[in-house]
Amino acid sequence: MANHKTRLAVFCSGTGTNFQSLYNAIDERALPAEFVLCLSNRSESGAIIFARQHGIPTIHLSEKQYDTHEEFSGAMLKTLEDHSVDYILLAGYLRKIPESVVDAYTFRILNIHPALLPNFGGEGMYGINVHKAVLEAGCRESGATVHYVDPEYDKGPILLQKKVEVMPDDTPESLAERVLACEHELYPDALEKLLLGSES
Ligand code: GRF
Repeated sequence: MANHKTRLAVFCSGTGTNFQSLYNAIDERALPAEFVLCLSNRSESGAIIFARQHGIPTIHLSEKQYDTHEEFSGAMLKTLEDHSVDYILLAGYLRKIPESVVDAYTFRILNIHPALLPNFGGEGMYGINVHKAVLEAGCRESGATVHYVDPEYDKGPILLQKKVEVMPDDTPESLAERVLACEHELYPDALEKLLLGSES
């Protein structure tokens, strides 16, 4: 269909700077996509506030709101179906995606991770922990990875990676800052690759 825009949902737990860079890239690069949903497990996350300010429907969905995991995953699936979501972009979402949702969206969920997977991924490897581990291991380079999501944490096929040099005087915080800046370029490149089959 002419002018069809791919319908994107973003899942966030925090500030949502990656979400913001994706949102801006759609406009700047004239990508054929639009955000139709921002889902957060936190009611007042920065991402939810940004979405509201930009007229994107938001939903606060947390497992705590449901008696069983099945009810929670069912509600998540129904929300995605209600908004006719084509792809889900995880951007700092600190919860595991229910298996029924991963099954329904096979190869249609992306995640960004602040390291060069398959290294420094898996359970507990989030936020500053990742950068501490990279420095403790004495790595000369780190970076960011965009990958498809499968039922295991940080294990799905890699779509795109970008390297960042580790400086001799880096602290976990200074490395985190440089990697985040890299993520803000990488995630839009990965989205472009997903949508157009190329990257800038
Ligand atoms: C990023 O480092 C991302 O790789 C990780 O969580 C952080 C989210 O930052 N999954 P933000 O909420 O996009 O600012």
